[in-house]
Amino acid sequence: MMRLALRLPLRRLGDKRWYSSADGFDATSSSSKAQPPSEAIDGFSVFPQELPSNAQDPSKDDFINDATSPPRTREQQMEYNKHESLRDWLGRQSRKRSVDEIVVLTGNIHRGSEILHNAVYNKGTGFNHSERERLGVRGLVPPRFFSIEQQAEKIWQQQVVMRESNAPKIARWRHLQALKDRNETLFYRLLQEHVEELAPVIYTPTVGEACLNYSRFFRRARGMFFTKDDVGHMHSMTYNWRGDVKIVVVTDGSRVLGLGDLGAHGMGISVGKLDLYVAGGGFDPQEVLPVCLDVGTNNKSLLNDKWYFGLNSQRLEGGDYYRVIDEFMRAIRHRWPNALIQFEDFQTKHALEILTNYRNDYLCFNDDIQGTAAVVLAGVYGALKVLGGKDRSEIRKQKFVMCGAGSAGMGIVAMLHKAVVKSGGLSEEDAYDNFYIMDNNGLITNERKLEFPREAAVEPFAKARKATKELPDGASLLDVVTKSKCTALLGASTVNGLFTEDVLRQMGEQNERPIIFPLSNPTSNAECTSEEAAKATDGRAVFSSGSPFEDAKGAVSGRLMRANQGNNLYIFPGLGLGALLSGAKTISEEMLVSSAKAISDMLTEDQIRRGCIFPLIKEIRNISARVAVRVIKQAAEEGQAKRSVVAIIESDDEHDTKLYKYVKRAQYVPEYRPTVFPVEESRRTVDDY
Ligand code: NAI
Repeated sequence: MMRLALRLPLRRLGDKRWYSSADGFDATSSSSKAQPPSEAIDGFSVFPQELPSNAQDPSKDDFINDATSPPRTREQQMEYNKHESLRDWLGRQSRKRSVDEIVVLTGNIHRGSEILHNAVYNKGTGFNHSERERLGVRGLVPPRFFSIEQQAEKIWQQQVVMRESNAPKIARWRHLQALKDRNETLFYRLLQEHVEELAPVIYTPTVGEACLNYSRFFRRARGMFFTKDDVGHMHSMTYNWRGDVKIVVVTDGSRVLGLGDLGAHGMGISVGKLDLYVAGGGFDPQEVLPVCLDVGTNNKSLLNDKWYFGLNSQRLEGGDYYRVIDEFMRAIRHRWPNALIQFEDFQTKHALEILTNYRNDYLCFNDDIQGTAAVVLAGVYGALKVLGGKDRSEIRKQKFVMCGAGSAGMGIVAMLHKAVVKSGGLSEEDAYDNFYIMDNNGLITNERKLEFPREAAVEPFAKARKATKELPDGASLLDVVTKSKCTALLGASTVNGLFTEDVLRQMGEQNERPIIFPLSNPTSNAECTSEEAAKATDGRAVFSSGSPFEDAKGAVSGRLMRANQGNNLYIFPGLGLGALLSGAKTISEEMLVSSAKAISDMLTEDQIRRGCIFPLIKEIRNISARVAVRVIKQAAEEGQAKRSVVAIIESDDEHDTKLYKYVKRAQYVPEYRPTVFPVEESRRTVDDY
């Protein structure tokens, strides 16, 4: 039976209030003697509920006598008797509706309609003849069959029209979200086929804009919210989720893409990130769980926004905050013991501590700290190739200035420092000399008073950088660049325009090929644009940014500078895939370094000649598979891999190829899978086989 919706008035029954299609109706009497409604009258079930506070007072006469209520007067009873059922009566009367009427949904759902409205199973015009017949969708979709390739082409053309008519990116984001709400398979198909162009629409920078207004854009529930009020219930809440989970992306919305505290709107970032895990890594969309921990927000404009859908309270701090995190972590592990948990966009003061607390006991990592660091390391290895370096050991010759001592900046320098030691062969102490760290107060030296534990990661670099007359604590960026004779300028400061023309020009003067990485997101926060870098260095810079930019030309020679994007997408899907497929229990630093090496190893001679420091993002599925292979091998080296994987590695010299095939086989492919036997098949009898 089709699901039915009836609009009915509220009625008072004694002390109880009921939203009912047949509340207290007694067909034999017009008396108002209240009877609790039966479970179902004429196919309608009834639900006792509390009356909402804003509902009209049902004791008012005009409301009691509303013509849409069941028959009570003699005339009404006679009128009713002419009709077969209460449903007909109510249907006829339903023309007269008041704003206080309640929609009561009852009855069973029709299979065909349900399938069409289920984004996981829906294929739209992609249902073949047998499926239409057997699933009850025949006649419910237009007659012509379109393959997923044709459907994807049609939607893509709509995206192209939007791009060419300069539609706002957010409109493209909404167009894609609407597709995802209708048909997930097609959504991921499109995303996978056009990942280079659509990743910036689904994720940074556009998702930032979406997160700013997420309550307003909210259409359909995705993922899970855990709040401070859920403490004590989180474990049981995980059973509200539909099934198996392989990966969880969790944020507390406290520092979304450099846009600051967006509270519960952070859900947008977890959802977007997991879309990239699916499209780029090949995770099954049915096995991913986006999570937002709503621990309040300190964002005044959100707290004053009447449509804000998060908790209307200040952020939890201290022990209370960590209790929420801890219960959440335990709940996830208890329910899905093998799931990977990825921390996303936690503010620096918590990000490092959370990572430190769980990294040795849980399969988890923080993409802002570790993923960014690995992708920047991959970029530096790639840049060494563009600079004509023989091998990775040349990293020892690089002098880095890092602007930004937050979680991203310090994660990057920690990993680069490790690489200078391991690949470059310098001692730990000597390697510190290759780094100049700056924050909003300028150069950080041994004279700086650091806040603990917040700035613990800065301490070894600060200690090693002795303040001098030339470069005192707090020295300006231009001074630091000039006097350090640095070769690489990195930005994770969230300060747009920090790399001024003077600074960029100076980098160009002291280096034949200066390395310039403005990594802050979104685009509006980038330390410089590709155009500014190309202009100031005459196109000689080896450039990589966090958000996408166009290639740009040098002002004098017209030399084309490649605008690489140091997109974490190169790392996290492959890292996650490798960790899960290997059966590892934790994610080690070496797995991240292996991922970075895998990426730079994929560069072709032609790409290096053109200034590319990363392989092409459109190859992301293969890149992720290659990264996963390295991660699996690293896990095996650490004794973390499961036996079946170790067996492949130990089998013969071809194990790289075998591991690659193993990973490729595990990747989800967005295709329409048959849901029924073809009609001819199903008509066969046992004898036919
Ligand atoms: P954060 O807010 O924790 O840290 C920002 C740091 O920049 C602070 O240490 C602050 O003192 C410093 N800073 C502020 N003004 C400065 C100035 N004028 N000069 C030098 N330093 C200055 O932020 P977090 O989490 O470290 O992220 C920083 C940026 O990195 C964000 O924009 C984020 O989007 C970006 N990021 C980029 C990624 C990528 O793939 N490219 C991945 C993760 C983060």
